[in-house]
Amino acid sequence: MRNRLCLLWVLYAGCSGPPDDSSTPVDLTDEPLRELAQSLGRRMGSVVNPLIEPDPAFEPNLLREFDLIIPGNAFKPKNIHPHLDTFDFSLTDEMMDFASEHGLELHGHTLTWGKASSLPAWLTSRTDWTRPELIAVLENHIATVVGRYRGRVFAWDVVNEAFCDPAYEANCVVTAGEDGGMDGSFWYQGIGPDFIEIALEAARRADPDAMLYVNDNGWELNGSPKASKLYAYVSDLVTRGVPIDGVGIQMHWGMTMADLALPSPEWQLRLEEAAASLRANLQRFNDLGLDVRVTELDVALPDGPPCSSEQDLARQAEVFVLALRTCFEARRCPSFNLWGFTDKYSWIPEARPGYGCATIMDSNYVPKPAYHEMKTWLRSRL
Ligand code: G3I
Repeated sequence: MRNRLCLLWVLYAGCSGPPDDSSTPVDLTDEPLRELAQSLGRRMGSVVNPLIEPDPAFEPNLLREFDLIIPGNAFKPKNIHPHLDTFDFSLTDEMMDFASEHGLELHGHTLTWGKASSLPAWLTSRTDWTRPELIAVLENHIATVVGRYRGRVFAWDVVNEAFCDPAYEANCVVTAGEDGGMDGSFWYQGIGPDFIEIALEAARRADPDAMLYVNDNGWELNGSPKASKLYAYVSDLVTRGVPIDGVGIQMHWGMTMADLALPSPEWQLRLEEAAASLRANLQRFNDLGLDVRVTELDVALPDGPPCSSEQDLARQAEVFVLALRTCFEARRCPSFNLWGFTDKYSWIPEARPGYGCATIMDSNYVPKPAYHEMKTWLRSRL
């Protein structure tokens, strides 16, 4: 099992080829990110996915720097529930065992998501589901998956990307008088807006001790349509006593050439405004009695020169530190999580052509300025 696991810990997303011997490994005499975060009572996490090809450098870097893993795809219904009456726990069991073996927390992602690519064909190909039938399917899915890992998975993204901004997202169902809306895809269409509380209540029944999260992207800025809709919806859940413990803020940031070319004073002002808005946003969810968590941070740069230009990498580092300090200075932000820690397996190049260079280490695991600046900030807080 151990050998197989060693091979398992390679992210999928179009490997850029075998590790290059010229890689300069991290300074092993230096305390890793996880130790610095632990000194502040917080955790440092990264997404992991199953293998495509062996990469002996991946696991040592993961285990040195992180004490929390988020399976990027393994727990998605498409992969864990391939047929109506069949669950496939082979990979999720191995990931859970790996986490247990190494004392890592595992954040389960995700029990419900309307995105068709995360759902199995047996669910999306049928068009005559009734509401009661779909509620039964959803409750059985959650009871089976969460029940299997009861007491082992410490937190779940019960719901992912259920909200939207109609200015940027199609299929966004907006209630009269509101700016933000709910993603009108599969679960919303089949059950209605209350699928979220049905899912949360099913998860609580299956594991009363697991932390239950609603996770979303694009709500970083306080007062934005999506942030306002999410806040209103979650406030109502809290008021009505629906089980929820936290909200996840994904933070997939995309820098533009304009951002990178901004004169320094304007750039610094942009950062300060973003930090203030983010801080206020996270604060108000903490004030509801909820945790917040950075769940999927990466900072994509336009392809080409920016991936090697010192100023552009320095600005990327400032965004990573902005996100880190906003989380760790918040009253309740227990973990700070990256959607990959090496450019070698980042999802960005494949999903966002023309962008890349989005993580804290290059494709040879050589730390980038973002890695070093995060450590500098963490040390300044000790
Ligand atoms: O494993 C199959 C492979 O066998 C097949 O040859 C290949 C081509 O069809 O597809 C592979 O599966 C892909 C999977 O990633 C593994 O690479 C799926 O098609 C593809 O849809 C899936 O994309 C994932 C995406 O979520 C949709 O589930 C990305 O890896 C993953 O990084 C991305 O992560 C999401 C979070 O879950 C939610 N927040 C946004 C974030 C980025 O989109």
